[in-house]
Amino acid sequence: MKKEFFNIEGDKEVKFNYRFIQPPQIAYFVTTKDEFGNINSTPITLGTCNAATFPKDGNFGEFYLTFSMGIKSQNDIGNKNHPRDGYINLLNHSEAVVSYIGEDLLQEAIIANMPLPRGISELDIAGLNTYPSRNISVPSIKECPINIECKIIEKIKLGNYYMLFIAKVVGISVDKELIEKDKDGYGVLHINPVFELNINQKKSKNNRLHFGMINSKKILVPGDNFGSTIDWVGTYDNLLRSEFNRGKISKEEFNHIKELTEIFKNDRSNKTVKDELTKLLKKGITGRNPTE
Ligand SMILES: Cc1cc2nc3c(=O)[nH]c(=O)nc-3n(C[C@H](O)[C@H](O)[C@H](O)COP(=O)(O)O)c2cc1C
Repeated sequence: MKKEFFNIEGDKEVKFNYRFIQPPQIAYFVTTKDEFGNINSTPITLGTCNAATFPKDGNFGEFYLTFSMGIKSQNDIGNKNHPRDGYINLLNHSEAVVSYIGEDLLQEAIIANMPLPRGISELDIAGLNTYPSRNISVPSIKECPINIECKIIEKIKLGNYYMLFIAKVVGISVDKELIEKDKDGYGVLHINPVFELNINQKKSKNNRLHFGMINSKKILVPGDNFGSTIDWVGTYDNLLRSEFNRGKISKEEFNHIKELTEIFKNDRSNKTVKDELTKLLKKGITGRNPTE
């Protein structure tokens, strides 16, 4: 297979479609406030949920989100890519509300993208309303069915142009109607969220963001003919037992895999054992030989 390599750290003129790196990401408002209490809302896609743990071991639930915001002016043609007001606000007041954007709020998201004067609320211009959040002083957005209240716990400068914010979720409010709708557990999918694809001029006269959506009629499930039968990850032991019960490995192979695993655990530099274990696991899990 022919591959083309783009040497990002070795070629200052490198040109390629950066959307091979930046995938379609769900869009959300990040609402913040300045020192006068002025509300600001920044639409964001450079971020995601990075940790999700329900309460356990006597700890509260732990959920984290990240997002990064531009920190420096960048002059592109017809576009002064200014430091985000949201970024400046978060340097002084480390609370934010993350609100996912459904297709019905696309226009409002684009209005919030406009280079409005600092202190003017994009929500007011777009005609969106707020209500008090419960655990932080930055308000939530009424028209958004999901509002996630966050405290910024860490910020990391990413090179010359972006600041990554790590946000700890301290509360979430969800429209009751949405909770009732969420019979399949897909959560945010029920608001028909939009995903940023790229920026181009193909479908309109001006340079515009393009968005995609998840086709909820096309849900993929990997099937039951491989993997642990109990849980989606399961334990190694259960994985081996599951493949044995399916008849994909014999009792002898099962025992041999276990022996090899023990040896390899104590010496991960043993190439002969590694090769044999890999071969048996590949056959047991995929039914394929190492050369296939
Ligand atoms: C869907 C969407 C996603 C965006 N994602 C980001 C992002 O992840 N980071 C960023 O700095 N700007 C992003 N932008 C651009 C900013 O939202 C835009 O520059 C905005 O004017 C900044 O607002 P502020 O200065 O009020 O914070 C995005 C815009 C849109 C519409």
